[in-house]
Amino acid sequence: MSAPKKLFIKTYGCQMNVYDSERMAETMGGAGYVETQNVNDADMILLNTCHIREKAAEKVYSELGRFRDLKDARPDLKIGVAGCVAQAEGEEIMRRQPLVDLVVGPQSYHRLPEMEAKLATGQKALDTDFPEEDKFEKLKARPKAKRGPTAFLTVQEGCDKFCAFCVVPYTRGSEVSRPADRILDEARDLVERGVREITLLGQNVNAYHGAGEGGDWSLARLIWALSDVDGLERIRFTTSHPNDMSDDLIEAHGSCAKLMPYLHLPVQSGSDRILKRMNRKHTAESYLKVIERIRAARPDILLSGDFIVGFPEETDADFEDTLRLIEAVGYGTAYSFKYSTRPGTPAANRPQIDVDVADDRLRRLQALLTRQQQQIQQSMVGREVSVLFEKPGRQPGQMVGKSEYLHAVHVVAPDVRPGDIARVRITESSTNSLAGALIAD
Ligand code: 5AD
Ligand code: SF4
Repeated sequence: MSAPKKLFIKTYGCQMNVYDSERMAETMGGAGYVETQNVNDADMILLNTCHIREKAAEKVYSELGRFRDLKDARPDLKIGVAGCVAQAEGEEIMRRQPLVDLVVGPQSYHRLPEMEAKLATGQKALDTDFPEEDKFEKLKARPKAKRGPTAFLTVQEGCDKFCAFCVVPYTRGSEVSRPADRILDEARDLVERGVREITLLGQNVNAYHGAGEGGDWSLARLIWALSDVDGLERIRFTTSHPNDMSDDLIEAHGSCAKLMPYLHLPVQSGSDRILKRMNRKHTAESYLKVIERIRAARPDILLSGDFIVGFPEETDADFEDTLRLIEAVGYGTAYSFKYSTRPGTPAANRPQIDVDVADDRLRRLQALLTRQQQQIQQSMVGREVSVLFEKPGRQPGQMVGKSEYLHAVHVVAPDVRPGDIARVRITESSTNSLAGALIAD
């Protein structure tokens, strides 16, 4: 038998890309490839890309340029672009960067082995279809190798919301939910391989409506079914839209012990005028109302959000509304971005606001969010949390894991193993993590 070929994958962007990269590596495993962490060693390089903001997309081209020397030295090296830039730019990528041999969109990567075979005949390969067949059905069964304690699991893809700034409905397509039994099978399989926490992924995960016993299941129904899987201890989900926070999902946050008290609920802006122009289909008040109901169900829930500053026509007053909304909510963590024009989206042709103004707003917004994050972290000191340990820390005997609130927690605990869950008393809060001590049984 010939030695296996080596595949190097670099992943950009969201958690769904992390999941997709795993699945691509697995399916290429069936075509005789093993993964390598060393790009100089690779027979094939795949960049799994993100198109959400201009900077993310441009990074891909600068990275590709860096492979020229490698390809000159080894003309057999194959270079591929996967993910959302592949979907959005297709053939243009090969025109702009002739080093690229293969372009594959997020809905067709189950066809990678056939595409690789085409490359072997000296041709280039391009596939940005939204095929009829379900890629998850076509992908090889997941290998049985042991895994770490946490995993992502895609349950829903695509988006029908069409926020005016966002490329996702174009790059990932319209909303599709995977059937519940397939998700449950995949979850059981992950648990058998050592996983104790699963994060359910979807661009609009709480709009999940997959086929299940007795008709379509909601995300809450799926979470309840997953909570019956022995050995699965923790369930999370991301990313959600405020309008899809249904009663049963809010209720599950109050009563499903395995559903962790953490919710990423992007709002983007606190100004109704801007929310309307963004086509968000909710107001600041309706968002706050949803938060109020979630907190009534689960008072200790940690909230996370996404914000865009400098959206076309955003005034100082609109921005102040956003700061006010942040003050009203109190976020434990958040992601904030300067608006980035995306070709083909409805907001692309609108008058842009001054870049210095946007920079200044981003600075002020991030200062407020950091203050809130630090306050909430500080408030954890003295509290008892449950930690799922993932890996050794830098100091001798130290282990690092995540609390139910998704805070990283460092504990000196030489007897603890990855995958263990233990009660911990928080003793200290530093910029990006907490420290604590095991609580004796
Ligand atoms: N510009 C800036 N931020 C964006 N996001 C999505 N599209 C854009 C854009 N064009 C942000 C939103 C979204 C997150 C994933 O990325 O906040 O929730
Ligand atoms: Fe993009 Fe809006 Fe859909 Fe989120 S809800 S993926 S921001 S279009």
